[in-house]
Amino acid sequence: MKNHDIVEKNIGLMIVLVAVAISFGALVEIVPQFFIKANHEPIKGLEPWDPIVLEGRDIYIREGCHVCHTQMVRPLRAEVERYGHYSMSQEFVYDHPFLWGSKRTGPDLARVGGRYSDEWHRAHLYNPRNVVPESNMPAFPWLFDNVVTGERTADKMRAMRFAGVPYTDEDIATASEPFIGGNVKEIDALVAYLQQLGVLVQQKR
Ligand code: HEC
Repeated sequence: MKNHDIVEKNIGLMIVLVAVAISFGALVEIVPQFFIKANHEPIKGLEPWDPIVLEGRDIYIREGCHVCHTQMVRPLRAEVERYGHYSMSQEFVYDHPFLWGSKRTGPDLARVGGRYSDEWHRAHLYNPRNVVPESNMPAFPWLFDNVVTGERTADKMRAMRFAGVPYTDEDIATASEPFIGGNVKEIDALVAYLQQLGVLVQQKR
């Protein structure tokens, strides 16, 4: 009791002890996770993104989609019923940086792959109000005009490889092939990216 009085009356000491308690908690909760191999093994079927998906992901980042959309279904009943299977670390081992996000102005997108048709996504991204009248999501019409040149795709793959994604030399050598002829618009790449989100773990909803 007496010792506790000392701590309660001395704010500096209290701060130090709180920091020690939290650090200890973090140590026993977080550190062991790094050593559980199953946590950082890629999930069955996970492949490095193909060049179009890789470019689509960068468009997703450039347009700030991750500012309004999370990609992380938490293991809570309400979330699992709405979005599908909760997210698992094994799904994200090639995600550098991961796009889990922290703000949900719009719905979570971790399991959006395959939920809508490509045409739905195109209509929605051209102007969300075309398909969801009450939507306050911004329109992205320029994605339909901008062509993906693919000039930096090989560099991006090299950077991903540096971060641990197993791209082969052949993947890198052929990275810009899909873009030859200028037929890939930004919208194509973005929709390709959206359509593969979360499809390796699908459960009937
Ligand atoms: C200002 C916030 C905001 C931004 C930025 C934003 N969205 Fe949205 N998004 C929303 C809201 C709100 C909804 C729900 C209404 C609707 O469906 O349009 C939504 C819905 C969606 C849906 C449908 C999800 C579902 O399960 O029904 C998709 C897909 C989507 N957004 C993709 C994107 C993409 C891709 C981008 C970037 C190009 C983007 N959003 C940028 C707010 C945003």
